[in-house]
Amino acid sequence: MIKSEIPHFTKYFSVKTMECLFDDGFLKLYNLSMCYNIPVIEPEVGLYLKSLVSSLRPENILEIGCGAGASTYLLNYDKNVNIDAVDSNLIRINLAREKFGDCRNINFYHDLAENFIRKTDKKYDFIFVDSIKKDYGKIWYCLKNILSQRATVVFDDFMLYGYLFHEECEIPYKYLAGVRELKEFYNEIKQRVKTYTLLPFGNGVMVINYEV
Ligand SMILES: C[S@@+](CC[C@H](N)C(=O)[O-])C[C@H]1O[C@@H](n2cnc3c(N)ncnc32)[C@H](O)[C@@H]1O
Repeated sequence: MIKSEIPHFTKYFSVKTMECLFDDGFLKLYNLSMCYNIPVIEPEVGLYLKSLVSSLRPENILEIGCGAGASTYLLNYDKNVNIDAVDSNLIRINLAREKFGDCRNINFYHDLAENFIRKTDKKYDFIFVDSIKKDYGKIWYCLKNILSQRATVVFDDFMLYGYLFHEECEIPYKYLAGVRELKEFYNEIKQRVKTYTLLPFGNGVMVINYEV
């Protein structure tokens, strides 16, 4: 896992365990991301995501921050699901396009999430957000216009290495602004969202069950 700090709750799995937990298609994308120094989903979060979409069976999925496509692979639970995957990094999007060349149900967009959301006229019943953490509040604000009447929105790395619950004096300076923004967003969720769950694994996974 290429991230600048050690994930807060995550476990490290041996190569053999990874081979038991995942198929070759995912492992190729996971290893490719590692080789190119692209941040990639924590294995246990990936398995959770895969199990979540397999049971909820959403029709239209939006992924914000797809990187080279490792998490996209896990979201693709059925060939009939429609997936729009967005990333602002052209090299990563091109890697993903190359790897998913023959998957007609997945579209990769090189764009800023904010622009993509403004332009699309689709509604999504499942959204996975794994972009810059300090922007999560802003992204949530834009997302509301493109959610189906009932939708699930998952934000990865919500606890930001566990700092979300630390006192400010304990937080390294480089994370301070991000943690402040996330705390503000967390307070908004607590006040305004009826059903949400903050799961303590990986770097913390926020699951919002949205209903109009
Ligand atoms: C943690 S990585 C994604 C990893 C990917 N979900 C996976 O597991 O393979 C975060 C990605 O978000 C992208 N990103 C950051 N801010 C963005 C934005 N505002 N709009 C679109 N993509 C963004 C970055 O380019 C980066 O590839």
